[in-house]
Amino acid sequence: MENSIALACSSVAEAVHEIADLLQKYPLNYGHGIQTSIDEAAYLVSFVAGLPPDFGEQAAAHLLDQAEVDRLQAFLHKRIFARIPLAYLLGETLLSGVKFFVDPHVLIPRSPIAEMIEDRFFPWWSDKQPARRILDLCTGSGCLGILAALEFDHSQVDVSDIDPKALRVANKNIVFHGMESRINAVLSDVYEQLPGHQYDIIVANPPYVPVSEQPDLPSEFSHEPAHALFAGEDGLDIAKRIILGASQFLEPKGILVLEVGQSAQTLQTQFPHYDFMWHELEHGGEGICVLTCEECKQIVETNSIE
Ligand SMILES: C[S@@+](CC[C@H](N)C(=O)[O-])C[C@H]1O[C@@H](n2cnc3c(N)ncnc32)[C@H](O)[C@@H]1O
Repeated sequence: MENSIALACSSVAEAVHEIADLLQKYPLNYGHGIQTSIDEAAYLVSFVAGLPPDFGEQAAAHLLDQAEVDRLQAFLHKRIFARIPLAYLLGETLLSGVKFFVDPHVLIPRSPIAEMIEDRFFPWWSDKQPARRILDLCTGSGCLGILAALEFDHSQVDVSDIDPKALRVANKNIVFHGMESRINAVLSDVYEQLPGHQYDIIVANPPYVPVSEQPDLPSEFSHEPAHALFAGEDGLDIAKRIILGASQFLEPKGILVLEVGQSAQTLQTQFPHYDFMWHELEHGGEGICVLTCEECKQIVETNSIE
């Protein structure tokens, strides 16, 4: 049969290597969190074999039965020929080692803001200041808000999104992580329908890709919701609203942590009177700025002089 996948492996370890070799033969994109063919192979095999993603040597010798091999082949067929990202095929992924459920209504979690949460926003946020209220704008699967709640264990967190189908996934993740009493999911167009709290920390990974770039993206991205990726001609329709509204929702000593990825340069040209500082990330990624409440106010003032 044309385009058929036939694996010859029998153990978990053999399957990982055979699948990684197979994936490398095709022009696949690994921009959805799991960044290499070997990591993707290991995650897929662990999922099908019912093992933890970081399974050790002993589990590697475990023998797969025919049903498991058949399932691997079926997943690989969709991954390779339909170019569906692995996370959507499995309905789950990891960010900062934490599991999140996903479906095609949410962007697959991969934001480098996760690394900043692990570092408790050092050096932008002092551990001497309690983070009582945190807001995750454009939350999608809820991943950043949930990671923030796990890291700042005395905080109350609001997560919000304009898409009710995304919020359904966020709520599933909130329940999975036992966070119902600390995380509130709100349907809102940026700040419009928020409950009116002031936040110590606002994190936001909004859509920031210019629509003109849509045809150039690898096929895998076409499986993600367009409104999670694209935001107007320069990509910054939502990011600009977030910056300009932030000071009204931040505590006086609060900070906004905003990801705009490769649109960083364009953002700078949009606000020429403010010199953006970009956070240096240890594990790759780009275009995250951190603004204080005062800086957000300054941007509003200089922007209105224009
Ligand atoms: C890039 S995804 C980020 C998802 C998640 N924060 C993450 O890091 O994986 C952007 C999200 O913004 C949401 N969004 C788009 N326009 C919005 C708007 N006007 N107000 C609120 N959310 C919006 C989309 O539904 C999508 O879930």
